[in-house]
Amino acid sequence: MRKGIIAGNWKMNLTPDESVSLVEEVWERIANLDRVEVVVCPPFISIPRVRELLDSRKMRIHLGAQNMHWEESGAYTGEISPVMLKFYGVTHVIIGHSERRQYFGETDQAVNRKVLSALFHDLTPIMCVGESLKERESGHTKDVVVTQVKRGLFEVPGNLARRVIIAYEPVWAIGTGKAASGGDAQDVAHLIREVLTELYNEEISEEVRIQYGGSVSPDNISDFMSMPDIDGALVGGASIKSESFAELVRLA
Ligand code: 13P
Repeated sequence: MRKGIIAGNWKMNLTPDESVSLVEEVWERIANLDRVEVVVCPPFISIPRVRELLDSRKMRIHLGAQNMHWEESGAYTGEISPVMLKFYGVTHVIIGHSERRQYFGETDQAVNRKVLSALFHDLTPIMCVGESLKERESGHTKDVVVTQVKRGLFEVPGNLARRVIIAYEPVWAIGTGKAASGGDAQDVAHLIREVLTELYNEEISEEVRIQYGGSVSPDNISDFMSMPDIDGALVGGASIKSESFAELVRLA
């Protein structure tokens, strides 16, 4: 049985003080829930403060980062390494978010290096894939997703691949209020499992968790969670308000 997982991608929002307050408020609302895994991914500079809070109050919330470099150290101005993330007890890391692909030129090859590095450092990668509006309208959703999954997992051995979380985030659904339908997201999630079976085997394909992301809210989370191949959500906007994030966790 795959455990549900709701992850909040806070993007470039909230100061360290605000981050701590948000986690406190969320925890107050979800402390008695433990059926889904909850991950928060604050900006890098909030990570130390959030870590301190999670430890001091023994909160069952996992700490994630929004990106990382694949090297452990070196002359990469402005970057953060997996070793640095581990220092603060980060357990998850979002890799290849469409905003990084779109605005920071992240390629499938870079995504692959990061996925391999994260796994090597015992971090759980949340690898994002998804088509743009243009790709969808021209009927290329499937090719795009299949290619991104295959390139992202290039040379990732099966025993490590089973730990990867794949987030299907159609670019046109991100921050637009226009979520995919549960059925459309399910079709793509199912396709991703077929690719995993082809790359590895059925057992690994059934073990990998797949999230949907893109305008997830308390109004539509149940649709996604009721789909057989969708195990959770990667949430942007609704994760930076305590009421909506806690409500998502509760509904999930
Ligand atoms: P929204 O939930 O704001 O659409 O963002 C989704 C996302 O990009 C999560 O990574």
